Amino acid sequence: MRRPLVAGNWKMHGTRQSVDRLLDELCREDWPEQVDLMIAPPALYIERCLSALASTPLRLAGQTSAWQAEPGALTGEISPAQLRDAGCEYVLVGHSERRSLFAETDESICRKFAAALACGLRPVLCVGETREQRDAGATAEVVGSQLQAVLDVFGVGGLAQGVIAYEPVWAIGTGLTASPDQAQDVHAMVRARLALLDDEQAQAVQIVYGGSVKADNAEELFAMPDIDGGLVGGASLNAEEFGAIARAA
Ligand code: G3H
Repeated sequence: MRRPLVAGNWKMHGTRQSVDRLLDELCREDWPEQVDLMIAPPALYIERCLSALASTPLRLAGQTSAWQAEPGALTGEISPAQLRDAGCEYVLVGHSERRSLFAETDESICRKFAAALACGLRPVLCVGETREQRDAGATAEVVGSQLQAVLDVFGVGGLAQGVIAYEPVWAIGTGLTASPDQAQDVHAMVRARLALLDDEQAQAVQIVYGGSVKADNAEELFAMPDIDGGLVGGASLNAEEFGAIARAA
């Protein structure tokens, strides 16, 4: 049986004051034991989060990282080795905001995936289609090709060392959640594609859903057979709601 993962991506939100308040509240939540839990705060606050959450099962992630593990002249970047050194266990790779706003490509995403694995981080590979692509009936093709780019380099064994996050772009931050059936269809398609290569690895890999997950829709999404939890944006900034989402997994 796969363990669910509930992950919170704080994106570019928070100040020292608001982060400390949120951390206090997170420490008071009742966290389920059967769920992997993780948050991805802005990098500046990782150390603060690590020490405040030490007594909780919440683990830390970077929201992105550089495409190389070694130190180098990459002004402004944070390497996966530095994230690991700071106490992170995961890193998001290829979030749709990175793809669309920071020109990340399948090629740079593969390099980041490799660098993260080399540093002992679990990469969370984000894939998903835009509204236009869904309306054109291209969801399977788009998600399939984002996956294939990583599969071509790492195979299913490498991909399965990470987590896959299906995040339809049209559902991110819009309040428009994919229906459980819509999300399940894509998750099942992803798993079936991996199963053609290695059924055992395909059945073991965590595939989480992201896109306007809230306390009031988490349970029905997580009840679907191929949805192994969620990657939560906005709702992860509220400890009570994030706790409720975690307990729904
Ligand atoms: O990384 C998280 C996703 O982008 C989902 O964000 O829950 O605010 O829609 P959201």
